[in-house]
Amino acid sequence: MASDRKLFKFEEVENHNKTKDCWLIIAGKVYDVTPFMDDHPGGDEVLLSATGKDATNDFEDVGHSDSAREMMDKYYIGEIDASTVPAKRTYIPPQQPNYNHDKTPEFIIKILQFLVPLLILGLAFAVRHYTKKE
Ligand code: HEM
Repeated sequence: MASDRKLFKFEEVENHNKTKDCWLIIAGKVYDVTPFMDDHPGGDEVLLSATGKDATNDFEDVGHSDSAREMMDKYYIGEIDASTVPAKRTYIPPQQPNYNHDKTPEFIIKILQFLVPLLILGLAFAVRHYTKKE
């Protein structure tokens, strides 16, 4: 069996993401679960949502039974070339330094928004005051 294992590239697997053509990557193996879509006790939607990525965690998070794991052999079609699987998308929070950077001008703008009308008002009073005298 081991000799005829097909090695898939991630690019070949990711596009099989439809109800009538659904491949999954679980623990380094590729499964064509198309015939199982209607019968999967968890529904076909979850299987579809697990396509186009390494679905190992999704599969494990459910806590599938041993019989579910045995069932997988039926759908096994090959191995995934791990080097072609994109690294997990990690959440990159909004950049803190930039955020802080922006704060300084923002702060200055706020002060100016307050000061400029005051200056104009002061100027208006000054002009009025001096023009009155004359
Ligand atoms: C070849 C792959 C898979 C097979 C053979 C399979 C098989 C099964 C089986 C037999 C069950 C019934 C419960 C059990 O025996 O554990 C089940 C339930 C379930 N599976 Fe899968 N599964 C596969 C992949 C996945 C994946 C990738 C996901 C998640 C994205 C998933 C999500 C679920 C969910 C949510 C349930 C329902 C659990 C419940 O409501 O009790 N399955 N699956």
